[in-house]
Amino acid sequence: MPSPSSSSNCAVAPLLPVVGAGTTVPLVTGEEVRYVGLDVAATSPALVPVVDHVQRLLGYYGSVHRGAGFASQVSTDLYEASRQQIGVFVGARADDAVVITRNTTDALGLLSHVLPADSTVVHLDVEHHANLLPWRAHHAVVVLAAPTLGETLQRLEEAVAGSGARLIAVTGASNVTGEVLPLDLLADLAHRHGARLVVDAAQLAPHRRLDIAATGVDYVALSGHKLYAPFGAGALVGRRDWLEAAPAYLPGGGAVREVGVDDVEWAPVPARHEGGTPNLVGAAALAQACRVLAGVGPRAIEDHERALHARLEAALEAVPGVRRLQVWDDAPDRLAVSSFVVDGHDHGLVTAALAAEHGIGVRDGRFCAHPLLARLAPGGTAIRVSLGVGTSSEDIDRFATALAAVVAAGPRWTYERTEAGWAPTPDPRDLDPFAIRAEVRRETSACEPAS
Ligand code: ALA
Repeated sequence: MPSPSSSSNCAVAPLLPVVGAGTTVPLVTGEEVRYVGLDVAATSPALVPVVDHVQRLLGYYGSVHRGAGFASQVSTDLYEASRQQIGVFVGARADDAVVITRNTTDALGLLSHVLPADSTVVHLDVEHHANLLPWRAHHAVVVLAAPTLGETLQRLEEAVAGSGARLIAVTGASNVTGEVLPLDLLADLAHRHGARLVVDAAQLAPHRRLDIAATGVDYVALSGHKLYAPFGAGALVGRRDWLEAAPAYLPGGGAVREVGVDDVEWAPVPARHEGGTPNLVGAAALAQACRVLAGVGPRAIEDHERALHARLEAALEAVPGVRRLQVWDDAPDRLAVSSFVVDGHDHGLVTAALAAEHGIGVRDGRFCAHPLLARLAPGGTAIRVSLGVGTSSEDIDRFATALAAVVAAGPRWTYERTEAGWAPTPDPRDLDPFAIRAEVRRETSACEPAS
């Protein structure tokens, strides 16, 4: 339900503190403004308590599972406690495995690796590439989403029944439209036909309560970098048996119990699929983000984001030529993600102007979901605005004013289309605030043979 404040114009402060909230950026016009990041669906800023936690743990940083020293013991313990915390956050069953991965793509790649031989996987065409490409290594059946979720579920059921699929792979929420899928119904559907359900929760987990035990979901994949913990870890959580039946996903130290000259005994799960030195910082950051989000509560997060999303949608409605994208007429819930096309405008040029002239970061293009964009957006591309716990009403208002200005009058600067997209030309901004590029350039030229 929308919160009471969702239709008002009251000021809404960020719900939680994020790192970089006050960062200022240069504009091509010479001013310096507070950066407004509205691309949380791609990658979210770090929560301040997450970075504080990382800072503290670095004082004890040592080798996980590989050392006798005190730092190593503390690090090992923290790594394993972080694993448990991540499991609690998604409502894992007592016997589920929690494997720390690099991100969602890696987690789904791991599940693809352990899938029993000759399995068929059914998925929708609305998925982003991480939940689409791994299944092509198996028998993949793609179901085209229908205009309603009800009909889409029917199509999925027919595909599962007809193919004898072992796995249904769905997103928890579309990274393009924010529409949320009914996970309990999907889990029932899968189980009725002897299949399992994996949920790509990269988008859903930071914004809604996930409870895989209660909903019957078999596997869930998520990313720290979308969960306010951008330190390179994600997770695959779920049924242990397939993971136990497969050889190591990343063979190497830590993944083994015993190695002979020409044989190997793999370690039990989860270590088996975590070859190499574990990413303690990533896992601990992700667990801390889970702790902080659970502490503030899913209701507060939902209310905060709904209020801001209503404000955003009202602003979009007021811009001539803007048409929002959606897949279904009956999605029961939507995250605070809005993708839209602007008739008569080049989306890349609009977002370049928003960045260069207004200090606003949003994403344009195909959002790593090419099949969905080909179907939803007439020109194949769109603009996406997405928000989270660090967003304020001032951010939305800045975006709304800037978009209206760019759409009404066009960019005020000149731009050239480059291989990487539209670039302000000239660009007087210093895009190398750490002076690293300048240093590398200096060092490279010092190494060049004198002519
Ligand atoms: N899935 C990421 C996004 O939506 C890449 O931006």
